[in-house]
Amino acid sequence: MQTAAGKLMKVFLTRRIPPEGMKILSAAGVCEVSQWDSDEPVQRADLLKGVQGAHGLLCLLSDKIDAEVLDAAGPNLKVISTLSVGYDHLAIDQIKKRGIRVGYTPDVLTDATAELTVALLLATARRLPEGVEEWGLELVEASLAVVTVSPAAQWESLDWDALAIARRLMPFGVKRLLYSGRTAKDYAAEVNGEYVPLDTLVSESDFIVVSCSLTPETQGMCDKAFFSKMKNTGVFVNSSRGTVVNQEDLYEALSSGQIAAAGLDVTTPEPLPTNHPLLTLKNCVVLPHIGSATYSTRGIMGALSAQNLLGGLQGTDMPKALVK
Ligand code: DGY
Repeated sequence: MQTAAGKLMKVFLTRRIPPEGMKILSAAGVCEVSQWDSDEPVQRADLLKGVQGAHGLLCLLSDKIDAEVLDAAGPNLKVISTLSVGYDHLAIDQIKKRGIRVGYTPDVLTDATAELTVALLLATARRLPEGVEEWGLELVEASLAVVTVSPAAQWESLDWDALAIARRLMPFGVKRLLYSGRTAKDYAAEVNGEYVPLDTLVSESDFIVVSCSLTPETQGMCDKAFFSKMKNTGVFVNSSRGTVVNQEDLYEALSSGQIAAAGLDVTTPEPLPTNHPLLTLKNCVVLPHIGSATYSTRGIMGALSAQNLLGGLQGTDMPKALVK
């Protein structure tokens, strides 16, 4: 597709994306692609420079797309396509105000993320990294809780993971499955779950898995008060967003024996600096946000984000539009 001046539209990719996505962009032949040619997150200054004059931006969770970036891009920007299901890194109000369309990648990573959460829960519960020194806890006859507290409007986001995680964990012989959160009622019954207030869930569970979108109400939700209600044998797992947890309070809970262990796929910041106190704890397993990191899922996400980008550039339907 060409601009009024007869030039191809400019798009900026903030990272190397899976080849499935690159193939779609090249085959379309409608845009000139420039890319932060690395597997590491783009530096802020390079993002601000790279986006200048772009008609399309393809970004990842690690890229904060706020008013400064939108201003740096300028009035050409028609579409932002994020290679993620979460969109808490996007200043949606600012984006809408400028009439920019947004595509994202819901649904396609639910299975991979649920699978990773199960792996993380088992590694944390059975103390795999320190198995020589420490015995673990098992799921048989345990009470398992999945927390999802997102507002109904965000139902199409990380909440699906909660159901997928529960479906995978129940066959381990879990005795009770507790749910909390506004949207959870809708599907607690499907997995024979009990819908309970958050306080009950926290105090009665042996394993707590947090799987919710980041909202003002979930930010900092897992804090000192939350951990102090957990059982001393309790295992805490977070595969949603790092800022749902107050990490100082979690460190205190883990190091004082208030709770038994924690598994985190998400942290603040990401990646966690190598000298971070949480990394000194034997009872804390930390992963670098790899919920969707399988070859097949990232390939599908890459293709979908390329199609969303092209739809936005060409003014046609995007397969998965967050802002139409
Ligand atoms: C996403 O894409 O938002 C997920 O957090 C990936 O794990």
